[in-house]
Amino acid sequence: MSRTFKIAVLPGDGIGPEVMQQALAVLDAVSRKAGVTFAFNHQLVGGAAIDATGKALPAETVSACEQSDAILFGSVGGPKWEKLPPNEQPERGALLPLRKHFGLFANLRPGICYASLTASSPVRPDLVEGGFDVLCVRELTGGLYFGQPKSRTTLADGDIEVIDTMVYKKSEIERIAHVAFKAAMQRRKHVTSVDKANVLTNSVLWRETMIEVARQYPEVTLAHLYVDNAAMQLIKAPRSFDVLVTENLFGDILSDEMAMIAGSLGMLASASLGKPKGDGLFFGLFEPSGGTAPDIAGMGIANPIAQILSAALMLRFALGMNAEANAIEDAVRQTIESGLRTGDIFTGVAGTRKVNTAEMGAAIVSRL
Ligand code: IPM
Ligand code: MG
Repeated sequence: MSRTFKIAVLPGDGIGPEVMQQALAVLDAVSRKAGVTFAFNHQLVGGAAIDATGKALPAETVSACEQSDAILFGSVGGPKWEKLPPNEQPERGALLPLRKHFGLFANLRPGICYASLTASSPVRPDLVEGGFDVLCVRELTGGLYFGQPKSRTTLADGDIEVIDTMVYKKSEIERIAHVAFKAAMQRRKHVTSVDKANVLTNSVLWRETMIEVARQYPEVTLAHLYVDNAAMQLIKAPRSFDVLVTENLFGDILSDEMAMIAGSLGMLASASLGKPKGDGLFFGLFEPSGGTAPDIAGMGIANPIAQILSAALMLRFALGMNAEANAIEDAVRQTIESGLRTGDIFTGVAGTRKVNTAEMGAAIVSRL
């Protein structure tokens, strides 16, 4: 009897559904080849869920996720829902609660610039020549995103005061540090920890803790950068990074920058993982790092690669199908090398051809 994996599929809004369709086609191809069954449980989330049920994260969606081996997520949000009260909007009403509910504290974002795609990078060619490979490890359930108190108050004099709080416990820093050092052991054994220790109390503890945890990984070298400098070094010397580990908000910002330098946000996959389950695998939510791209939603021209690579990360981290994950990553690389480009990465370089979402997806499937 073949193995069956239960996958909660949450396409969401904007380009979510169209890129998800391509990722599911890739998974179907994998399932035929590997002889496993993926039972996809499609659920509403974000604006789509608000329109259908009034809630960004319906209870049914949460329970479907709880009963699954992994969550494959598209993207949520868009102009249509921006006038709702902030906490009911798709991002704060669905994505953040999902991350918190499942304790998905470790967000892995592989910023890979293929040698064949350096022309798509907006930075000077000599800085990205030969491509690069940075793994951003972003803490995902702490810091300013979730810290309490959070408030908006109209003061007696009519002024308005807003508060967001940056909170980290040492234990939270330790566990993300271990994720970063373990990842580095499988890579080039270098960790760059990014903080703002010259200003923030949070960052002082962050840096102390990184140094402490590093002692357990003597083979790994540890460097520290202030976040403003890190933003600069990513542009100036992307190849100097191996694993970049940082807190929630810094990671949000730097991972977009990293993705753009690598060619496009449309290429950046991500894995949001909880505690290891004990069998070497993780429950997780796997989603592209880019947004819903409302400007091109529904046009069938979005880049499906971030979604497809997120499905590969799901196979690797949640389902233990490493060979199949590698096969998808190879198929993506070969498709790029063959010259196919969606609009976001098309620059008109000789030997390349502009394709749409479905053509890109089909080309990747055909290489599996
Ligand atoms: C990301 C996104 C989210 C974040 C938004 C949609 C809440 O930008 O995953 O990077 O800020 O974490
Ligand atoms: Mg972001």
